Amino acid sequence: MKSLSVILTLIALVQAGLRFPCSELTVQRLDPVVQPGSNPSTHVHHIVGGNAFNATMTGDVSARATCTTCQMAEDFSNYWTAALYFKHPTNGSYHRVPNLPVQPLLGGSNGAKGGLTVYYTQFDLSNDKLASQPITVFKPGFRMTVGSPATTGTAESGLSYQCMSGSSRGTITKDFPTSACSGGIFTTHHFPACWDGVNLDSPDHQSHMYDTVSSEGFVNAGKCPSTHPVRVPQVTYETVWDTTKFNSMWTSGAKNPFVWSFEGTGAGTHADYMFGWKGDALARAMNKSECFYDGCGSITKQSMATAGQCTVKDFVGEPVDGWLSKLPGM
Ligand SMILES: *[C@@H]1O[C@H](CO)[C@@H](O)[C@H](O)[C@H]1NC(C)=O
Ligand SMILES: *[C@@H]1O[C@H](CO)[C@@H](O)[C@H](O)[C@H]1NC(C)=O
Ligand SMILES: *[C@@H]1O[C@H](CO)[C@@H](O)[C@H](O)[C@H]1NC(C)=O
Repeated sequence: MKSLSVILTLIALVQAGLRFPCSELTVQRLDPVVQPGSNPSTHVHHIVGGNAFNATMTGDVSARATCTTCQMAEDFSNYWTAALYFKHPTNGSYHRVPNLPVQPLLGGSNGAKGGLTVYYTQFDLSNDKLASQPITVFKPGFRMTVGSPATTGTAESGLSYQCMSGSSRGTITKDFPTSACSGGIFTTHHFPACWDGVNLDSPDHQSHMYDTVSSEGFVNAGKCPSTHPVRVPQVTYETVWDTTKFNSMWTSGAKNPFVWSFEGTGAGTHADYMFGWKGDALARAMNKSECFYDGCGSITKQSMATAGQCTVKDFVGEPVDGWLSKLPGM
């Protein structure tokens, strides 16, 4: 029989949520979750996080990484989405859309360059109280995806767009905005937060997880089903795509000129997560109410100037920026 202390260490009671920026690490055609070992993968990704990022990633990522573009210095995870491209409405050339840090930047994180903002929430965005619903943090080797480039029609729950007007985020929609956005396009990717408790991955990278997300916002964490009984932190990415310099080329009334890097429509929006926190750092972070949002006295933070120095090499060696006659790999 397992001792009570073993059971208690497996289930850490936690009361927290984290929100922090990660600057851009690299933009290239690699996907160690969905296409491990493939150089190149099928489409271009916009990647942030630790410098252990590579075509193949196994085991404890944090043991190989030596720096991260994220504000939380012990977080060597990698976070990525497809890259976004502008397709010129008349000449058909493509140009990658750059990113801006998500505002507001909290807790001395000025200096973030592009990238995205990551959330790990325990319950929702306004409650820091989940003693009633313990969570377990991810283990080394854990990975998952949400959404799929193959989705057509409507993006699944938890994946959305907003047409920003200045810094105001605007109405949540399930597809690309239909007219030019003066503040850029804001995307959100909420990952599922119920785990089967056994598998670090699954053949489709999704079935080891169960999604209780039922609306587009940060809602209260729903109850996990018996098939996926272990609640893990709800991971969310928010990304701002700076579409403003393309707005003058989007003639009024013309259809949306933005495409995901797989030549995809809005419904194909998706994101990948590769866990890589060092030791028990995420458990410590999620264990402290002081960490809610970005307090985190006990978690090591770095300046975004330092974070911005972390790089990986260009493993693929193909142009992804500038005007391109076709999307890389398409
Ligand atoms: C990337 O992975 C390859 C193959 O596993 C390995 O030989 C190489 O050292 C790795 N490169 C970096 C920079 O991690
Ligand atoms: C398409 O238009 C852009 C913007 O004017 C220009 O820079 C690019 O070279 C054009 N592409 C082609 C193939 O003419
Ligand atoms: C989380 O907090 C509990 C209660 O204070 C404590 O017993 C446990 O060791 C903490 N876990 C970590 C990883 O800090």
